Formats: sequence, structure tokens, C-alpha cells
Amino acid sequence: MTITVIGTGFVGVVTAGVFAELGHQVYGLDVDQKKIASLNQGDLPFFEPELKELVLAGLQTKRLQFTTDYQVAIPDSQVIFVCVGTPSADSGAVDLTYVESALLEVAKYLKPEAIVVVKSTVPPGSFDHFAKIMQEVTKVPVALASAPEFLREGSAVSETRHPSRVVIGTTDDRVFTILRNLHQPLGAPILQISPASAQMGKYAANAYLATRITFINQIADLCQHNGADIEEVIKSMGFDPRIGNHFWYPGLGYGGSCFPKDVKELAYFSRTVGYGDNWFNSMQEYNEGRITRILDDVLVKVGRVDGQKIAVLGLSFKPNTDDTREAPALKVIPYLLQKGVAQIQVYDPQVQLSRTPFANHSEIDQVNQSTNIAQACQDADGIILLIEWPEIVEFEYSQIRNKSKNQWLLDARNQLDPQALSDAGFQYLSIGRTWNKSHE
Ligand code: UGA
Repeated sequence: MTITVIGTGFVGVVTAGVFAELGHQVYGLDVDQKKIASLNQGDLPFFEPELKELVLAGLQTKRLQFTTDYQVAIPDSQVIFVCVGTPSADSGAVDLTYVESALLEVAKYLKPEAIVVVKSTVPPGSFDHFAKIMQEVTKVPVALASAPEFLREGSAVSETRHPSRVVIGTTDDRVFTILRNLHQPLGAPILQISPASAQMGKYAANAYLATRITFINQIADLCQHNGADIEEVIKSMGFDPRIGNHFWYPGLGYGGSCFPKDVKELAYFSRTVGYGDNWFNSMQEYNEGRITRILDDVLVKVGRVDGQKIAVLGLSFKPNTDDTREAPALKVIPYLLQKGVAQIQVYDPQVQLSRTPFANHSEIDQVNQSTNIAQACQDADGIILLIEWPEIVEFEYSQIRNKSKNQWLLDARNQLDPQALSDAGFQYLSIGRTWNKSHE
């Protein structure tokens, strides 16, 4: 089958690569010519494990090619995936401009019987509008389906090869049958539901996961005040099969390009239908204020940071990606500078400081990138473990302990051994662990 995937972000490139691997002829399409030229050389504009190999294999077999030309890709294609961005305004209103312009271009060249599958996260109920604007451009009956994406950055290739489920939002059985056959080799349960339910299911899944994280963060905050240890609390709850142990490690709050945005959009949608003070608002506010609250607390415990040198480990929003959207570092670094920190040494296995939005910050001269963890931590008064990259978690911090200083270490992901760090002479701080209290 010939397939086009529009949008070459991580969802689009991974989708294109995996369908090429399954033996289909795939066009990856984007309006960004530079990006397309690089992709055709096998150069990715972002880091995602296993993806380069997948793209190179697709290019080599000639089953995968990248183009900017709708007129080349669309007339051939039986299935067209739309994977472009849907940014939201500060209010939470979704900007559908990129989806709409992709759909209008597709409509110009659409062949009869072709199916347009929207993978971009769009508000439930958008399909009537999409079908209407497309139908104004083409006489070919437009068949639209929704197939929300559930993959995570950092494990996008393996989760696309082996998804937990494939949700197909369509009421048209012909469309469902073609899409079911297309996805069947992935071996996942395949569900047919309405487009609006598929779209709402995507928001609800992300909001639920964000809720779990917010919930455990709130419990961790309470543990700071009552002698309980959040890691023990999680263990005790996790044995209940209704609850489980997974996906709620406490930290500085959720980041990335999806949870903050989807929660904000649900909050906005709730307000527009008359639910003024809603859970999504509260969750968003709590998450947004979390980093400042935790750092204020750390400041009280360590006494002062002005004039000091601090190491910040991890610039991405999570491990195994170079994506810095809503990454904690983007709040932590300005906070430290504002508190008078003299020097910040950052380290990240993938992210270059010069490529972060932070690079334009007026005080960027005080922030330097190190090439390894030891260098970043050298003579630091404080160390902040922001992101649980394996090498950051596995590093022997006792090696770089400077005995002439009262060094502190904030383990913002509760990944390290408090006893070992304390034995090495660090003031160990974490999120909701008893250690914080008993060693103040
Ligand atoms: C998330 C969802 O997990 C995917 O299912 C979904 O497809 C994707 O959004 C999307 O909508 O495109 P992603 O943003 O890549 O995936 O990353 P996650 O691994 O879910 O992490 C999101 C944030 O939550 C990170 O800041 C992470 O550090 C934080 N988190 C995650 C926690 O604080 N605690 C946890 O237990 C898990």
C-alpha cells in the first residue's frame, strides 16, 4: 500500500519508518525543505533511540522517501496520516492551523477511496469542520478517521512497533477494515469507536497519567510534614492491583510537549462549557508552581545559594530524548540566577545548551555546559539531579565530593541512595523521603 505521513516530528517520522519496515511504500511529507533534505540523507533533526537506524533502513530499501511535494505524494496514497503539531495558546485554546492547511493541501490531490487519518491531537468534535473545509476543495468523498498516538518520546520506535492498542475513530466500516488490516501486523488490540470518542480518549489518557503524577507529588509533599516516606508509601499502595506500581514516580512535576498542553486544553474546554473551577485547572496550576515551591524549600534547607556554583544535571524533559519542551531546567536555571547563583554548570548527554530556548536568556554567560558529569560537579556547592538519564543516576558522586565544602545534592527524581551520599558527606535532599526530615 502507498502511504503518506504528513509532519516529520517524532510521531510522523516514527510512523513513516515503521510502516516502511512493514513493507509499505511510504512518503514522509513536510513543508520544511531543509528538514526533508536532511531526512533524505538519513539525518534526523532530533534524537530518538533506534530511529536513525529505522530511517536509514527505509531509505536503503527505497520504501521510505521524504518530500515537500503534496502533488507527488498524495495522488498515489491510499492512506494519509496527518501528524502535524497542534499548539495551544496560553488560554488553552487549540490552534488547528497546521492540521487545516495540511488537510486543504491533501484535498486538492486526494484520490477516490483514499483515507485521511488524523493522528494529531485535536479537540473532540473537530471532524465535522475538517470534512466541511476539505469537501469545499474536492469532489472526491472525504473519508476521515482518527487514530490517536500513544507512544512516548524516548521509546517511540519500540512503542510504535508494539503499541498497547490501536484506536480507530470511525463509523465507516470500509475505513475501519482497511485501517485494521494495515495495523494488524503490529499485534495490538484494535478498537473501532467514534472519532469524538477516540479524540477524547487521547486527552483522557494523558490527563489521567498526569493526574497520577500530580496525585503522588501531592502525597510526597504531605510526607515532608508527617514523617512518612513517599517511596515506602508507593510500595505499600502498589500491591493493590487496582493501583499498581507504575508511572507515578514523584518529581518536579510533569513536562514535555503533551501532558501540560493536553491538561491545559481540557481545562479550557471545561471552562468553555461552563465548568469554571475544574480539576484540570487545579492540576495545571499545581504542576506549574511546583518547581518554585520545591526550590524555595531547598533554599531554606541549604541556607544560601547566592555567589555559589551549582551543577544542573539533565536539560531534556525526560531521559532518552533531546526534547526540552517544558523541561524542568528551563525553570530551574532562571530561578537559580534570580537567587544570585554565580555560576551554573550544566550537563546533558544529548542536549546542547545553545539549542535550548534558554540560550537567549540575558544571563546566559553565567551558565556553561560541561562535557561530562564530573566536570559539571567539580567544586560545585550544590548539585541538582533533574533528569534520570542512566549515566546521571549511575554516576559515583562520592568521587567528586569536595571535603572543603558543605556540598548538597537535590535528587529531584528520588533515584540515588541517601545513605551512600550521606556517608560521602553530602547534604542529601529529595522529594518526600524521610531522609530529608531525619537529617535536617
Ligand atoms: C506522553 C504519554 O505518556 C504518551 O502515552 C503520549 O502518547 C504522549 O504523551 C503524547 O501525547 O504524545 P511523553 O510526553 O513522551 O508521553 O512522556 P512521558 O514518559 O509520559 O512523561 C511525561 C512527563 O511526566 C515527563 O516530564 C516525566 O518526567 C513525567 N513523569 C512521568 C513523572 O513525573 N512521573 C512518572 O511516573 C512518569
